[in-house]
Amino acid sequence: MNDALALADARIPPRFRGAVADHPDVTAWVDRVSVEATRGPGGRLGVATGPSLLIAGPTGTGKTHQAYGALRSLLLAGVRLGWQATTAADLHASLRPRAGHDTEGELRRIARTPLLILDDLGAAKPSEWTEELTYRLVNHRYEHLLPTLFTTNLPIARIRETLGDRITSRLAEMTQRAILDGPDRRRTT
Ligand SMILES: Nc1ncnc2c1ncn2[C@@H]1O[C@H](COP(=O)(O)OP(=O)(O)OP(=O)(O)O)[C@@H](O)[C@H]1O
Ligand SMILES: [Mg+2]
Repeated sequence: MNDALALADARIPPRFRGAVADHPDVTAWVDRVSVEATRGPGGRLGVATGPSLLIAGPTGTGKTHQAYGALRSLLLAGVRLGWQATTAADLHASLRPRAGHDTEGELRRIARTPLLILDDLGAAKPSEWTEELTYRLVNHRYEHLLPTLFTTNLPIARIRETLGDRITSRLAEMTQRAILDGPDRRRTT
């Protein structure tokens, strides 16, 4: 294990600390981002721009596992990158306008993070406000070609009706896909 991976594992939720990405479409994305990684300060590999990945599938098929596994694979390959991980529901809660909190600054910080895991996209009940916020986040990452690992429980065909046209159109252009299937692993292990 390298230092970057040990540091990252300290921030990864314990359940996913040892996660290994083994889905072929996820490892293909890792390879693609590794290749696009540019030399950063000190000759280290850092991600600048790259494709995003949409990991879709029913509950318990391992989407969050694959997302953290992909992050760990990049670090293991020596790609040096700042990262943040959040669920869409937690993000919406933390960005709800309230006195004494710079929620615009927080949105900017998340939007600009070099690699973002945005888990459970479309799982929470949508409102105009959550759609606008998700749009601003996705649009920033779309315009700046920032690699993002999205996961969603939504079947691909239902993404448009849940997230709206503008978000869905951008996701279609910016993401590679990994579709997971099989049983709910929580019930079978
Ligand atoms: N490839 C794998 N190898 C071993 N364990 C796995 C693997 N994928 C998932 N798991 C385990 O299966 C359980 C469910 O995985 P995970 O939480 O990633 O599912 P999910 O698709 O994100 O579910 P949800 O849609 O409810 O968020 C977890 O305990 C996880 O550690
Ligand atoms: Mg999950």
